[in-house]
Amino acid sequence: MTEKRENWGSRFGFLMAAAGSAVGLGNIWRFPYLTGMNGGGAFILIYLGCVALIGLCIMTAEFAVGRRSGLAAVGAYKSVSDKWSFAGALGVLSGFFIMGFYPVVGGWSMAYIAKSFTGLLAVPEAIGDVFGGFISAPVEPLVWMVIYLAINVFIVSKGVQGGIEAAGKVMMPLLYVLLAAIIFRTISLPGAGEGLKFLLAPDFSKVTGQTFLAALGQAFFSLSLGMGCMITYGSYLNKEEKLPANALIVTTMDTSVALLAAVAIFPALFAFGIEPTAGPGLVFIVLPQVFAQMGSLGPVFSALFFLLLFIAALTSSVSLLEVVVAYLIDQHRMERKKAVYITSAIMAVMCILSSLSMGAMSGFKIFGVGFFDFFDILTDKIFLAIGGGLLAIFVGFFMKKEDLKDELTNGGTVSFPAFELWYNLTKYVVPVIIAVIAISGILAIEQKSLMIFGLLIIAVLAVFSKKL
Ligand code: PFF
Repeated sequence: MTEKRENWGSRFGFLMAAAGSAVGLGNIWRFPYLTGMNGGGAFILIYLGCVALIGLCIMTAEFAVGRRSGLAAVGAYKSVSDKWSFAGALGVLSGFFIMGFYPVVGGWSMAYIAKSFTGLLAVPEAIGDVFGGFISAPVEPLVWMVIYLAINVFIVSKGVQGGIEAAGKVMMPLLYVLLAAIIFRTISLPGAGEGLKFLLAPDFSKVTGQTFLAALGQAFFSLSLGMGCMITYGSYLNKEEKLPANALIVTTMDTSVALLAAVAIFPALFAFGIEPTAGPGLVFIVLPQVFAQMGSLGPVFSALFFLLLFIAALTSSVSLLEVVVAYLIDQHRMERKKAVYITSAIMAVMCILSSLSMGAMSGFKIFGVGFFDFFDILTDKIFLAIGGGLLAIFVGFFMKKEDLKDELTNGGTVSFPAFELWYNLTKYVVPVIIAVIAISGILAIEQKSLMIFGLLIIAVLAVFSKKL
């Protein structure tokens, strides 16, 4: 390579970027509704178990693989064995596909910042129709999506330090401030205590096998694992950084935002007598109903909340775009700007299809689902878990133990007392748990043709891996 590879400018900058990737729609939109649908505290406990046992091990492993090779997803695998390139390619494809719907929801969050002040969200009974009408419209959501994607293009084309890191350093602290402001308000609502009780008192009668599945999938998605994102971010780390400590910090930050989002949302729901089991519409339909009942400050809190959602989404989609861009730079020597423009143009087309699948194209199905669900199910239910499992096997059985130890202790200069525990968990326990949960989960996917298509893609990647 002619140019020197980019690096993060500071430890704080890296942490904000990595936590920015992890903290996203997964924490603020998905985690609260999954918690609401799966029995509150019981789901939270299982989720925390998945994060501590599996998430932390995989995050540490991804950082180690990334920094060791100094390359993004495909290159990192390839540097150990050509045959493994497909695992990296699967990650790049996952990033690509998640970007086929993530910017659509990012655009919704921007639209809702504006809508907070238009009076459209002021009548609680009409809010459900407003949302349905908005997302199924042919033009408005597309305009917001394009603006959202353009901001991503702007940030990622500025590079690792000047773009991604700079954005994370400003936006992540702002996110915490906004979250604190919202919690401060909702927790002091009369009747909020019931909501806290729902979060703190586990109801295990709602727990089934599917609860474990939902918790594991959520852990991967929320921590940005299983698709080489943390490999890519790890590849920009300098050799002095302590990887296990950073993995612990990022995991803790991500988990704390998910928990805080739940603390921000549930007391408000209970205070206004709204059921917590509303599902994916929780954030866009139920919360505005809560804001609408808050009086004159309602629009302000509504706008602050959707700003929070927008910021969280932005620092994550930037990392998804970077996974694909870094692959093109590393493996195909493409210039950064060119890689960003080409990649985002294709993503824009996928997002247009996803957005239209909510309205104008709702009758059009591939493998039994619309485009939005196609990209979502393929990545979240099939690719991420398999990607995480492959990484654990790769690290445990194809990398040298001494190399891993060397990387995680910075050549023996810093101590990592839990190395043996981490190594054995990653090698033996994590793949087995993921296999059990992923296999049962993938087999349970309703759309069988989509499931077969997903597995076929992985097989095709494996066959052509040397070309990638
Ligand atoms: N972690 C992000 C969220 O919680 O919304 C989503 C995500 C980003 C998943 C980056 C995967 C990834 F590589």
